Amino acid sequence: MKNAVSRKLTTIAFGSLLIVLMAMPAAFAAKLATVDIPVRPDLYSVTPEPLAPAQCAQCHAGQFGSLKDNGGRHSFECQGCHKAFHAYNPKKGNYEELMPKCSSCHTAIHGPANKDCSACHTNPHTPRKVAMTNRLTNTCPTCHAKPKADLVQFPSKHSLLGCAKCHTSHGFKPSCAMCHKPHYQGQEYTTCTKCHSVHKPKKVTYPENEPARTCGSCHTKIYAKWQATPSKHAKVLCAQCHHDKHGYIPRCAECHKQVHPAGIMAKFPKCLECHLDVHELPGMGTKTKK
Ligand code: HEC
Ligand code: HEC
Ligand code: HEC
Ligand code: HEC
Ligand code: HEC
Ligand code: HEC
Ligand code: HEC
Ligand code: HEC
Ligand code: HEC
Ligand code: HEC
Ligand code: HEC
Ligand code: HEC
Repeated sequence: MKNAVSRKLTTIAFGSLLIVLMAMPAAFAAKLATVDIPVRPDLYSVTPEPLAPAQCAQCHAGQFGSLKDNGGRHSFECQGCHKAFHAYNPKKGNYEELMPKCSSCHTAIHGPANKDCSACHTNPHTPRKVAMTNRLTNTCPTCHAKPKADLVQFPSKHSLLGCAKCHTSHGFKPSCAMCHKPHYQGQEYTTCTKCHSVHKPKKVTYPENEPARTCGSCHTKIYAKWQATPSKHAKVLCAQCHHDKHGYIPRCAECHKQVHPAGIMAKFPKCLECHLDVHELPGMGTKTKK
């Protein structure tokens, strides 16, 4: 009974609604969906921000981590390189096409012999990390001409070693300690390259303040004489007389101008005829005893 009444009321209400609706514009004409979801145009009134790297990282942790740790100057927005992404389609086989190209931002900076960037820069997310592949070790001189030229022009036993024997990873510079003992105990390895340029190690040069002890490690007899001399030559370092390059023999006149009358000198042109041993001069007069 109750049901019959309410059904009748509904019918009346529906009927009148229908009449009202028919008289209204079409937009309000019908309920289009079977579900009720409120319309929210406000949700679409914003302009979306592009995803920040940290947001890409929620799925691409690997690439993000590489850039974070070793990205160097590639540590900018992902989309700086990836103009298009999430567009890979196996049917189109467009993966290569999607991937950023070095050439869109770089020129062939190492010259025409090294245009195949990714052969060495294997991961664009760690651009400075270049592995010691054969591709690299076979071509060091294409970028570093000088070391190769020195090794060839000044032959030594180092010339027989491959670059990678010493440079075990790219950019690594070995200590001489890896392969050599110092000349005397306590000599610092940081001093070696003062005298030896590593790519021409037999071409020895040294500064004038080089401690005599270095020379003494090989020239033991002369070092002993020099240390014992009571003369003022004991205050003159080996390297001050034998300056610039190993084996150089100085002339007395480099330091001593006209000390004796010209007449004596004409008779005895060689200073060491009287002074005997330059490393072992006797003490002179009163100013001597050391
Ligand atoms: C300097 C340019 C550059 C930047 C910046 C960069 N990428 Fe890449 N990315 C590349 C290149 C080039 C490749 C293609 C590598 C290949 O072919 O091996 C690539 C490949 C990828 C791939 C495919 C899988 C892979 O590792 O080869 C993913 C995923 C990716 N990048 C995600 C990212 C994300 C995420 C970021 C930011 C956090 C990012 N990339 C930043 C250049 C870049
Ligand atoms: C919600 C997870 C998710 C987010 C966020 C995301 N990706 Fe991806 N991405 C994927 C998946 C899944 C793939 C396909 C599988 C794969 O290669 O790892 C993919 C593939 C890629 C690829 C290679 C294939 C292609 O179609 O380009 C690149 C490049 C890439 N994403 C870049 C990005 C960049 C850049 C961002 C941030 C702007 C980003 N993705 C954000 C999930 C995500
Ligand atoms: C969207 C542009 C873009 C793309 C694509 C790109 N690079 Fe770069 N790359 C840069 C910029 C910008 C720098 C920084 C230049 C500067 O500071 O002078 C850079 C720097 C580098 C550096 C030096 C990194 C450092 O930390 O010093 C290397 C190496 C490099 N890129 C290699 C590559 C290789 C290889 C590719 C291709 C796989 C590539 N780049 C693709 C823009 C790009
Ligand atoms: C034969 C290997 C090889 C090839 C091929 C190669 N590179 Fe490099 N590139 C290197 C090495 C090694 C470095 C030095 C990395 C370091 O700092 O240790 C380097 C450094 C760079 C730098 C940084 C230069 C600087 O002075 O800071 C850029 C940029 C670069 N490469 C871009 C490229 C581009 C672009 C290509 C392709 C056109 C390319 N490279 C091809 C090996 C290579
Ligand atoms: C494609 C070019 C390229 C090739 C090939 C290359 N390098 Fe380099 N190398 C560079 C660049 C660029 C630098 C960075 C220069 C800088 O920082 O002044 C560098 C830096 C170095 C340094 C450090 C320089 C310094 O003053 O600290 C050493 C050592 C080195 N390379 C050795 C090698 C050796 C050994 C090989 C072969 C296994 C090699 N390189 C191959 C480009 C190259
Ligand atoms: C016997 C070991 C050894 C060999 C072999 C060797 N190097 Fe070196 N190289 C060194 C050492 C050590 C340094 C650091 C020198 C310094 O700090 O004065 C160096 C420095 C460098 C540098 C930095 C710039 C410079 O000239 O000081 C480059 C580039 C380089 N080597 C490239 C090469 C190349 C290319 C080859 C092969 C053709 C090569 N090296 C062979 C040990 C070696
Ligand atoms: C990776 C090993 C290695 C490194 C690093 C190295 N050398 Fe050598 N060096 C050698 C070998 C091997 C020889 C030949 C030794 C022999 O025959 O006893 C040699 C020989 C020499 C010679 C004699 C050359 C000749 O032709 O008689 C000198 C000088 C020398 N090294 C100096 C240095 C100095 C200085 C350094 C550091 C800047 C250095 N070396 C770094 C391996 C190395
Ligand atoms: C004052 C300059 C000087 C310094 C510093 C120096 N050397 Fe020497 N080194 C020489 C001279 C000179 C020779 C002999 C060259 C010759 O035979 O013509 C030599 C020879 C060598 C030789 C060839 C083998 C031998 O013993 O005759 C090696 C190896 C060597 N030095 C390694 C080193 C190492 C390693 C260091 C650093 C700990 C170093 N040198 C520091 C001057 C120096
Ligand atoms: C590693 C050993 C060693 C060291 C260190 C060394 N020499 Fe020598 N020196 C030699 C040898 C070996 C010769 C002889 C072969 C030659 O002429 O190169 C020599 C020769 C000489 C000669 C004579 C050249 C000639 O014409 O007879 C002088 C001068 C000389 N050294 C000075 C020095 C001085 C100065 C130092 C220190 C700055 C020094 N040496 C360090 C090994 C060394
Ligand atoms: C690098 C410079 C230099 C060279 C080269 C040199 N001397 Fe001297 N000599 C000195 C100095 C400095 C004194 C101390 C002078 C003073 O105090 O007035 C000295 C002092 C002397 C004295 C006096 C010694 C004393 O104890 O009073 C004699 C003698 C002497 N030199 C002889 C020679 C002879 C001979 C030669 C060549 C075989 C020679 N010198 C080469 C720098 C040098
Ligand atoms: C005052 C300058 C002077 C000083 C200091 C000096 N020398 Fe000499 N040295 C000479 C002269 C000049 C000759 C050439 C002597 C000759 O013609 O008989 C010579 C010759 C040599 C020779 C080659 C001839 C030989 O006797 O074997 C060696 C090696 C040498 N000196 C090493 C040294 C060493 C090592 C020291 C330091 C302990 C040293 N000299 C200090 C001036 C000097
Ligand atoms: C004929 C032998 C003779 C010859 C040659 C000779 N000298 Fe002398 N020289 C002496 C005598 C002797 C003394 C004084 C010793 C003394 O005062 O005890 C002396 C003293 C010196 C003194 C120390 C002067 C002072 O005032 O303290 C120097 C420096 C000196 N000679 C350098 C030279 C030089 C350089 C040559 C070569 C150009 C040379 N001598 C050649 C014999 C000689």
